[in-house]
Amino acid sequence: MPATPPDHVPLEELHPPFALRVRSGALTMRMLRDEDMPEYAALLRRPVFAVPDAPHVFPWYARDEEERVREALRFQWRLRSELHPEKWTLPFGIWVDGRLVGCQDLGATAFAVRRVVTSGSWLTLDQQGRGYGSLMRRTVLALAFDHLGAVRAESAAVVGNARSYGVSHACGYEHNGTEVIEQAGRAIEHQRFVVTPATFRRGDAEVQVEGLTPALRSLLGADEGR
Ligand SMILES: CC(C)(COP(=O)(O)OP(=O)(O)OC[C@H]1O[C@@H](n2cnc3c(N)ncnc32)[C@H](O)[C@@H]1OP(=O)(O)O)[C@@H](O)C(=O)NCCC(=O)NCCS
Repeated sequence: MPATPPDHVPLEELHPPFALRVRSGALTMRMLRDEDMPEYAALLRRPVFAVPDAPHVFPWYARDEEERVREALRFQWRLRSELHPEKWTLPFGIWVDGRLVGCQDLGATAFAVRRVVTSGSWLTLDQQGRGYGSLMRRTVLALAFDHLGAVRAESAAVVGNARSYGVSHACGYEHNGTEVIEQAGRAIEHQRFVVTPATFRRGDAEVQVEGLTPALRSLLGADEGR
């Protein structure tokens, strides 16, 4: 391997989210890199929903496989390019035994002022019902509350998405009203959820955070001492 020229800064310094690694129980969570995209594309071709036309099927998942993969790649690259203190999403890939099994996003708008995070997640069908959904949500909540200084986390699930409700209840979220959104010409009712550090049910697994550098904090509007 040729030596790295001294004026070449590592990619993790150019784009600080690449340095972030969060581990809990069997899970390792980190941003997808370009070399992960073939595994990500294969993951996206696997079943995620038991009932393909259920109201909670994601609109991007309902597309044909090729379009789904293209849109998912655009999504990953768009989130990188749009990461900014005013509005950010950290799209974590979830690895179990070295294998990518799903995704967990953590996002915020005006985090420096609001201190509120939102989340969304999915696992392939064969990995569901093993507790990973609750563990990955607890892990990003621990990152948000204990390391970034969040004071509130919000989530929402399509009414009737029992597993998603299950995750929110397991993590200590409380019901926070409903809303109706338009999705592909259908009216879909969402249950909103909210959890704070006081109501958060942490579970037993320890959460290890690596690579939360001052540069990354600054990008997220989560500088220490604010
Ligand atoms: C939602 C999702 C991420 C949850 O992950 P998971 O690994 O299947 O969930 P878990 O195994 O951690 O179970 C979560 C909780 O729901 C409960 N649960 C599981 N299946 C359930 C069901 N059919 N009815 C009610 N509760 C259920 C579990 O008992 C568990 O609660 P507990 O920890 O108190 O026992 C996963 O099912 C998924 O990817 N679904 C498809 C995509 C999706 O709907 N994403 C959410 C969008 S808001």
